[in-house]
Amino acid sequence: PETGCLSIIVLGASGDLAKKKTFPALFNLYRQGFLQSNEVHIFGYARTKISDDELRNRIRGYLINDKTATKGQSDEVSDFLQLIKYVSGSYDAEEGFQLLDKEISEHELSKNSLEGSSRRLFYLALPPSVYPSVCRMIKQCCMNKSDLGGWTRIVVEKPFGKDLDSAEQLSAQIGELFDEPQIYRIDHYLGKELVQNMLVLRFANRFFLPLWNRDNIDNVQIVFREDFGTEGRGGYFDEYGIIRDIIQNHLLQVLCLVGMEKPISLKPEHIRDEKVKVLQSVLPISDDEVVLGQYDGYRDDPTVPDHSNTPTFATVVLRIHNERWEGVPFILKAGKALNSRKAEIRVQFKDVPGDIFKCKKQGRNEFVIRLQPSEAIYMKLTVKQPGLEMSTVQSELDLSYGQRYQGVTIPEAYERLILDTIRGDQQHFVRRDELKAAWEIFTPLLHKIDNGEMKPLPYQPGSRGPAEADELLARAGYVQTHGY
Ligand code: BG6
Repeated sequence: PETGCLSIIVLGASGDLAKKKTFPALFNLYRQGFLQSNEVHIFGYARTKISDDELRNRIRGYLINDKTATKGQSDEVSDFLQLIKYVSGSYDAEEGFQLLDKEISEHELSKNSLEGSSRRLFYLALPPSVYPSVCRMIKQCCMNKSDLGGWTRIVVEKPFGKDLDSAEQLSAQIGELFDEPQIYRIDHYLGKELVQNMLVLRFANRFFLPLWNRDNIDNVQIVFREDFGTEGRGGYFDEYGIIRDIIQNHLLQVLCLVGMEKPISLKPEHIRDEKVKVLQSVLPISDDEVVLGQYDGYRDDPTVPDHSNTPTFATVVLRIHNERWEGVPFILKAGKALNSRKAEIRVQFKDVPGDIFKCKKQGRNEFVIRLQPSEAIYMKLTVKQPGLEMSTVQSELDLSYGQRYQGVTIPEAYERLILDTIRGDQQHFVRRDELKAAWEIFTPLLHKIDNGEMKPLPYQPGSRGPAEADELLARAGYVQTHGY
C-alpha cells in the first residue's frame, strides 16, 4: 500500500449523507487501523459557519452511543474526532477553497517527514447540482502539488443526472476537469458483501458454469423492498422516484453481475468492460412489462405535490438480447412502504423434464442470494420426504452468514468503498460508459412517466404492492415455490 500523507476532505460535512454514512465509515476504517493518525487528516467543508468542535459534536452521536459506550470506546471516538478539522466556505467561490487548500497544505507540511507522496481524497457528500462548480473549485485551488507525487481523487454519488442527456452533460462537465481514473462514482450496492460475492459464486464454482444460461434458468428476479416510506425525504424523492432512486442504479448494477460474461481477469477495466456489454444488450423496455405503484398516503407529505405522478414502487422486466439470456426475463422490482425490508436475487430454474415424481407443483429449483437483512445464500431443491413413504418435499441448502461466519463482522458498504478509493481500486465503481448505458435503458420509460403517459397504481402501505405486479411476475414465468 501507498504511504505518505493522506487528506480526506468531506464536502457537505454537515449534511445527512456525511453524518450517517461517510464519517461513520471513516471512523470504522480508523478503528481497524486503515487510517493511521500519523498520516491522515480529515477535513469537513460546508457553508455553515461552525467551529471544529461544533462539527465534531454533531458527528459524535452518529459514531457512538455515549450512554452505552465503554471508556475505551469513547476515547477511541474522541481520538478520531481530533483528526477532523472544519473549514467553511461556499461551493462556488475560490475563497473557501483557497483556505481549504492552505489547511491541507499545512497538514502536509507538518507530515513532511513522512516518506512518500501526498494524497487528497475529496468526498462530495453534496447534491449533484453543485458537482460541476465544486469540481471546478477543486481543480483550480486544491489539487495535490507535491513533488513526491501522489494523487487527487474525487468521490461522487448518485443521482448522476435525471435522464440520459442530463447525465451525459454532468459527465462531460466533470470529465473536462478530471480523468476517469480520478473519478469514483459510488453505487453503494457494489460495496455490499453478497454483491461482491456474485462473481466468485458464478465463476469459481463448477456447479454453476454449465447451468447459468437460458437452457436452464427460467427467470431472474432482483428485488428491493423497504417497509418504510419516504419519511422526511419526500421532496428529494418526488423529483426522482423509485426507478431513479433504486432500479436504474442499485438493481441494474446487480443485474450486470448476474448477467455478465466472465471477464478476462479481475482487473477493474476487464470487469467493467463486461458489465457495459450486458447493459448494451438490454432491449427497449416494453410498456406492458412495467407495473408502477404509489402508496396511499405518499402525497400527504407536505413536500410532495398533491398531484404527484411519481412511482414509489415499480416492477420492470428487462430482456437481455444475447446468446446466454435470450428469452430469460430479468425482473427488477423495488418498492417503498411494503410489507418487509429485504433485498435479494432469486434465480429460478426451469422444470425438470419428464417429472417421474410428480413434484412439479411443489416448485422449482431456486438459487437465492439474500443481500439483506441477514445475508444468506440458499438453494431450494426437491428431496425425499424423510420417512417410509416415497414422497418429495422442497427443502433448502442453506448458507446463512450469521450461523456459518459467527463472529465475523461484515463491513459496511461505504467503509469498503472508501478504502477502495484510497487504494485506487475502481472495480466497484461505475464507469462513465456504464452510467450512460444504464440511462439509455431507462430514459424512454422515465420520460413517459414524467409526461404523465404512464401512471402509478395505488397500493396500501404495508402491502406487497399492486396486485398487477404479481400478475406481471406470473406472466414473466415466475412460479411461486412452496417451501417446507
Ligand atoms: C439509497 C436510496 O440509495 O439506498 C434510498 O436513495 C434507500 O432511498 C437506500 O433507502 C437503501 O440502501 P440500503 O443499503 O439500506 O439497502
